[in-house]
Amino acid sequence: VRSLRLVGQHVQKQQSREMSSSSGPQRKVAVLGAAGGIGQPLGLLMKLNPLVTHLSLYDIAGTPGVAADISHCNTPAEVSGYAGDADLGKALEGADIVIIPAGVPRKPGMTRDDLFKINAGIVKSLCAAISQHCPEALVAMISNPVNSTVPIAAEVFKKAGTYDPRKLFGVTTLDVVRARTFYAAKKGLNVRDVDVPVVGGHAGITILPLFSQATPKKSLEGEELDALTKRTQDGGTEVVQAKAGKGSATLSMAYAGALFAEACLKGLNGQKGVIECTYVQSSIIPELPFFSSKVRLGPNGVEEIMGLGQITEYESKALEAMKSELASSIQKGVDFVHQS
Ligand code: NAI
Repeated sequence: VRSLRLVGQHVQKQQSREMSSSSGPQRKVAVLGAAGGIGQPLGLLMKLNPLVTHLSLYDIAGTPGVAADISHCNTPAEVSGYAGDADLGKALEGADIVIIPAGVPRKPGMTRDDLFKINAGIVKSLCAAISQHCPEALVAMISNPVNSTVPIAAEVFKKAGTYDPRKLFGVTTLDVVRARTFYAAKKGLNVRDVDVPVVGGHAGITILPLFSQATPKKSLEGEELDALTKRTQDGGTEVVQAKAGKGSATLSMAYAGALFAEACLKGLNGQKGVIECTYVQSSIIPELPFFSSKVRLGPNGVEEIMGLGQITEYESKALEAMKSELASSIQKGVDFVHQS
């Protein structure tokens, strides 16, 4: 821990010279689980983001190396690394955004819910520390099962008296990223011009891409629509199988996490018209207290939860079909905090 602090101090001195040339608000982003498969490339992408002035990398081990490595990149963001529980407070202090990719990933044959036992406890303890050290921060949850870990975070914050539903997000951006890629490929479009809203949750049938609202609009029906919907829902499993026991999506998740964090930073900085799909406390589907939909982001986090728009019969059936699974995943998260 001591040597890590020294690395941190050295890095800070080295970077402070460059800081003087940067303008705009000071923004500290903390990544918890920063030495992992997602954490490392996500840390790199956040270091490259000009809106970040301080990048705080935390993990139970391995962060000195990651922080030293990333800190050599030629961007002004100051980088510090912290390892172990004793330094978690320092890692979080003053954070504007906390991104959480801490926990175990899936292996072939596992569902995201199979991760619950281990990840629920990790998320609970990290969120308790957030409520103590940076209760005002936006929290972007990547750790699976997101459908349950976000309700866990909410309950921990409620218990601590720090819960602000505008500031807690489940990161579902990877589902949007996948839907865009698959739709663009199928319809021969440039993926940079494409957008596809994805609503619901972040596991199997709870992931619902709204291809009827995709832009640019192209006809998509019948088996083709079904295949693209299923591929989006199973995109994570496609990667888990291809990696054959060596983890789940890490690089595309880091990319997606960096897109979402950048949107949060833009919102915090007062930029207008920042809209992302994300899993938040929501009342648009009365029986589902957490739901992912388009959300407008601003200086306080969620500024507006947007409705579903006009959905097709196909989408409406899929929405009905997900309700019981999503509701029970939410309840499982709530119960975990109250029973433990
Ligand atoms: P990984 O095992 O490579 O990395 C996880 C990191 O978390 C490790 O470095 C580990 O030391 C750290 N960690 C464990 N306990 C911790 C604690 N108490 N505090 C801080 N750090 C801790 O796993 P990977 O591939 O990076 O995945 C991380 C999580 O992200 C998994 O739960 C996975 O299911 C989830 N995920 C979510 C996606 C999404 O779309 N939301 C997509 C892909 C993965």
